[in-house]
Amino acid sequence: MTERSTWGSRLGFILASAGSAVGLGAIWKFPYMAGTNGGSIFLIPYIFFTVTIGLTLLIGEMCMGRAVRAGAATAFRQLGGRQVAWMGLLSVLTGFFVLAFYSVVGGWCVYYMVEAFLGNGIINDPAQMREAFGSFASSGTAPVLSHLAFLGATAFVVFFGVEKGIERVAKILMPLLFIMMLILIARGLMLPGAFAGVEFLFKPDWSAFTGESLLNAMGFAFFSLSVGSGSQMNYGSYLSRDVHLPSSVSWIVFLAIMSAVLGGLMIMPAVFAFGLSPDAGPGLTFATMPAVFAQLPFGHFFAVTFYVCLFVAALTSSISILEMSVQYLSDEWKLSRPAAVALTGTVLAVLGTLCALSFGPLADVTLFGKTFFDFFDYMTSNIGMPIGVLGIAVVTAWLAWSATRTQLTLVKPVSGLFLSGYRVISGIFAPILILVVMLKGLGAF
Ligand code: ALA
Repeated sequence: MTERSTWGSRLGFILASAGSAVGLGAIWKFPYMAGTNGGSIFLIPYIFFTVTIGLTLLIGEMCMGRAVRAGAATAFRQLGGRQVAWMGLLSVLTGFFVLAFYSVVGGWCVYYMVEAFLGNGIINDPAQMREAFGSFASSGTAPVLSHLAFLGATAFVVFFGVEKGIERVAKILMPLLFIMMLILIARGLMLPGAFAGVEFLFKPDWSAFTGESLLNAMGFAFFSLSVGSGSQMNYGSYLSRDVHLPSSVSWIVFLAIMSAVLGGLMIMPAVFAFGLSPDAGPGLTFATMPAVFAQLPFGHFFAVTFYVCLFVAALTSSISILEMSVQYLSDEWKLSRPAAVALTGTVLAVLGTLCALSFGPLADVTLFGKTFFDFFDYMTSNIGMPIGVLGIAVVTAWLAWSATRTQLTLVKPVSGLFLSGYRVISGIFAPILILVVMLKGLGAF
């Protein structure tokens, strides 16, 4: 069994948890989800869900992890009792299944990074832009090998443990990613026609509003914070008792929202300026960026730096998820770290391969009408995470409120008003909202 580590510092914890949150969600998933769900009408509920229930229940998730110094399976069982223990297991499985498709998109990132190194990261011709991503993603071998490379990199870091691997990686390249995004946004906004993309993101068009887009926005809010899928609870379990959770988690949430908004501002203006379709689907970011690099002096340099940073951002998220799965097998199944990494890695290699082939040879194979890739994406964000967050709400606000209160007040006293407000949002508002949005989004009324 592996020993449970602790974070070296408060900053190390914030950066690693922000690293878990900020990843492909902001730069890959947000632009394409906004593009297929009405732009602003996706952005506004996303921000609303994030600052209300996302923030509150991410704090709750960390409270649970730190209270029992264990991952989701143990935390739900110990704090909530037998009747909610299954929710802990569901959270762990949800996180694990996220990696099945996440690793595929991480692989796309690896492929584009290598292409950029080889000097192929730039495309000038709009017709070619639309073609290039499609022919890569549908080619079979290249996306599978890229997925395996990304998964291998994740397993490598997890194998060597939390302290050594994660903190070091998170501290170096995340700030660089933000700087790169600002430069790319500035260039994109100067393109003729770019403003239509800004309007699409920020000017509300209520006619595009549907129950399904609302569920997608809620699912994305949870996905982007990595809340309700075990990994943040696991990071919380490594946390020392002298870290003030509400303020630290607020930082993580702020960084997650900023990065999604920046991700949207980086992609959407360019999409409109180059006459691409915002609802092009999962390839949107990868189809658009080569044209943005073409507009910059030293475009190749920017392409290489951007994909390296994106790769690291994706890696800090995938590491947190694999780490959580490995810790689960270590805590509950008493497996050694090498055995747990080997087992999770093998299963994910197979599931990820099915997802990677969803854009080519397996495009016609569906589960409940969705390709493997879409199935894992939809089930984790729109079903697994909302149920996981619901479970955190019930446990932290009702079944184990005194443990939650202790965690919230560990470092400095908080006002009674804060505690009551916190409990109302997590214990009443969040469960009702999550259930209503899920039922509406799934077409129950
Ligand atoms: N929260 C992670 C991301 O957004 C999964 O990439």
